[in-house]
Amino acid sequence: MTKTMRSMVVLAAAMCMAGSVGFAQSSGEAVYKANCQSCHGSTGTPNSGMAKIMGIKPASEYKSSEKEQFDAVKNGKGKMKTFAGKLTDAQIKDAVTYFRTLK
Ligand code: HEC
Repeated sequence: MTKTMRSMVVLAAAMCMAGSVGFAQSSGEAVYKANCQSCHGSTGTPNSGMAKIMGIKPASEYKSSEKEQFDAVKNGKGKMKTFAGKLTDAQIKDAVTYFRTLK
């Protein structure tokens, strides 16, 4: 390998890593862990105390549409406070998408 080629490979690798780190931080999983997990649990199933006090069901038991869930998170529902102003629409959408993958 020539020197130039080698530095290009290094640069490309560095760019890939930077890209994936950025993605992880803005991904639904990261938003969920930072903002939602405290109530909904890391796996989408709240602990029993939380479930009882807050009236939260496991993620898979919500049969509402993605749009309804987005609205519930954005505008608040029951004991879940509004996330409008705290998270962007894109972050809410990503978090809801992630929530919907939890069982
Ligand atoms: C303070 C605790 C709390 C936090 C934090 C919280 N939730 Fe909730 N969430 C609730 C409660 C309570 C309900 C049940 C509302 C009801 O059914 O009355 C709920 C319901 C939901 C629902 C179902 C709405 C429906 O009926 O279709 C979704 C989806 C949801 N939460 C997603 C999220 C996401 C995504 C986040 C993070 C951005 C989040 N929640 C953060 C407490 C919380």
